[in-house]
Amino acid sequence: MSSHSTPASDTPTDFCFRCIGCGDVSHAASRDFRCSHCGDLLEIVYPGWKNAKPDAQKLKSGWAQRRLSNSALDLSGVWRFRDLLPALADESNAITLHEGNTPLYELPRCAKISGVPKLFAKHQGMNPTGSFKDTGMTVAATFARRAGFRWVACASTGNTSASMAAYAARGNMRSLVLVPEGKISWSKLSQSLDYGAVTCQLRTDFDGCLRLLQELVKQAPVYQLNSINPFRLEGQKTLAIELLEQLDWQPPDHIIVPGGNLGNSSAIGKALLEMRDLGLISRLPKLSVIQAEGANALVRTMRETGGKRLISLQPETRATAIRIGNPASWKKAIHVIEATGGACEQVSEIEIAQAKAEIGAEGIGCEPASAVTLAGLKRLVAQKFVKPDEVVVLVLTGNLLKDPDYTIDFHRGDLFKSGIGEPAQRALNSLRRPPIVLDATLDAVIRTLEQADTVTSES
Ligand code: F0G
Repeated sequence: MSSHSTPASDTPTDFCFRCIGCGDVSHAASRDFRCSHCGDLLEIVYPGWKNAKPDAQKLKSGWAQRRLSNSALDLSGVWRFRDLLPALADESNAITLHEGNTPLYELPRCAKISGVPKLFAKHQGMNPTGSFKDTGMTVAATFARRAGFRWVACASTGNTSASMAAYAARGNMRSLVLVPEGKISWSKLSQSLDYGAVTCQLRTDFDGCLRLLQELVKQAPVYQLNSINPFRLEGQKTLAIELLEQLDWQPPDHIIVPGGNLGNSSAIGKALLEMRDLGLISRLPKLSVIQAEGANALVRTMRETGGKRLISLQPETRATAIRIGNPASWKKAIHVIEATGGACEQVSEIEIAQAKAEIGAEGIGCEPASAVTLAGLKRLVAQKFVKPDEVVVLVLTGNLLKDPDYTIDFHRGDLFKSGIGEPAQRALNSLRRPPIVLDATLDAVIRTLEQADTVTSES
């Protein structure tokens, strides 16, 4: 296979690990992916780029060329950009499900609602297991197998576990999933079961699962596949590279991403900074991170401590994917928000529900956690942080089908049990399309059609 894949640059991507706290550089990482000196997180860096920068034009044309290739590596929207990823000793060893290659959709109605001229959705929910996690998992699972591990493991709110279980199965590894009991969607849980993971529902929240996993990897020979693992972030970087390629390398003004454990925002920011440094783009888009009000650790950390000390909390939100109170990659996220001049904002449960229905009504759809991006954009426009002439990209992280219970509760009017105020209720009601139970007669269906037509013409 490797003989058919196309080289895009002459520069090998030899990498090492650098601690984001003390800057220590090493060629190997410990099992918990923490610095052996200060305990902070590691990032992957490419020392070779200092003296032999990959040529930007050559990279761009090489990546375009690979789109014509049918080799497994080139068909992956992650490995197609392998010149900016840790080098594979043997290219046929990549565990890939043709991840990446996700569409960039225009959202004209949501643009109008939020008051920007051009709004795009980079839909990572169109990945093989339905979330952005696949782009990181292909890289991290590949390096897990290369390191000789039989078992991989993760703590998850549901998407990481679905993705890990799939890639482990494809790579002939066993997988152990730790998820909070009762706080993840059935759809995500069902994926890890079907892909053959040993799935443990722990009586704690996501943060409790992650704490336990970090202890476990020190005692048992299992490879940790949470986004603390820097290989995950290298794969997730390619979201931004692919996005810029789709925009003909013209940077948007703003990219907006949901924030949970804060790996994804860190990865996207890393890609933007690397692309700027390598001359692939001439200008940095702002990167903003949006959280749910009930899981707003980063927002509080930035507002109350100026980003110096993490404020962790007991999270609560129906957007269960981001129900996280102690985000591991908070320092990395703050670094990229500040480096790109972005913002960090929070949105309410009502705003999330409304935004999700608005994205759905464009024929696109996403899971609740992804909808914080549109809700956040509206806030940033109202605050004049996003200007009325700016081009904005929302990163939709998960597929609509990831959380059908939420969607059905919303349309049936069961999402908010207690009074939410008249204006909010009216806004939500205008988006609700509950299923209608009818007698099986032509008459009943025609009356329903006429009624619906009147309502639509009035609105
Ligand atoms: N959106 C979705 C759909 C997610 O599943 C997650 C995280 C996020 C956004 C937040 O991304 O953690 O990188 O800031 N899900 C993880 C999981 C925690 O276990 O599936 P983040």
